[in-house]
Amino acid sequence: MTTATPATPGLRIDQLDFRHVMSHLPTGVVAVTGVDPTSARPAGLIVGSFASLSLEPPLVAFSIARTSGSWPKVRRGGRFSASVLAEGQDAVCRSLSRKNGDKFADVPWHPSPDGAPRVNGAVAWIDCEPEQELDGGDHLIVIARVLRMSTGPGEPLVFHKGRLGGYRETIAA
Ligand SMILES: Cc1cc2nc3c(=O)[nH]c(=O)nc-3n(C[C@H](O)[C@H](O)[C@H](O)COP(=O)(O)O)c2cc1C
Repeated sequence: MTTATPATPGLRIDQLDFRHVMSHLPTGVVAVTGVDPTSARPAGLIVGSFASLSLEPPLVAFSIARTSGSWPKVRRGGRFSASVLAEGQDAVCRSLSRKNGDKFADVPWHPSPDGAPRVNGAVAWIDCEPEQELDGGDHLIVIARVLRMSTGPGEPLVFHKGRLGGYRETIAA
């Protein structure tokens, strides 16, 4: 089905329409995790907005809802890790995208050289340092410098049209 949504300046874009249309863009599922310096405990959240931004200098960018409780903790901790979740890590995604509770209780992780949690079994790890936060409406656009990277085996977890799964389940099906 195709639908036409007017995008004329001044016309209101309905939030549900916006979500529906954007859900047609498949994304990866990335755990952005660090250590809250106040509690010395892991903190983090899931983002689908993670993208490479610049090669020289090496930068990544992602958007964070201004309502996020976890990002300020990760930000205060300084260096953090981004783990690109693998197919089958749906439960990790659900834990780390919860608003409350001990998000890391059932999430196996190992520390990066900076001490930030890297999720075990992810397909890639990108260790970062926050550089800038820009205004992005009801979100912040976070720009971070890449410090080091590595990859693991397996296929990525994908989010598409509200479904979480492997590439075959969510896109090719
Ligand atoms: C697949 C997926 C993608 C998400 N992408 C983002 C995102 O790009 N930015 C964001 O702020 N929240 C995103 N979220 C929601 C956050 O993970 C969630 O709101 C957050 O964990 C709330 O916890 P907090 O208040 O402790 O930060 C996403 C959730 C899921 C399941």
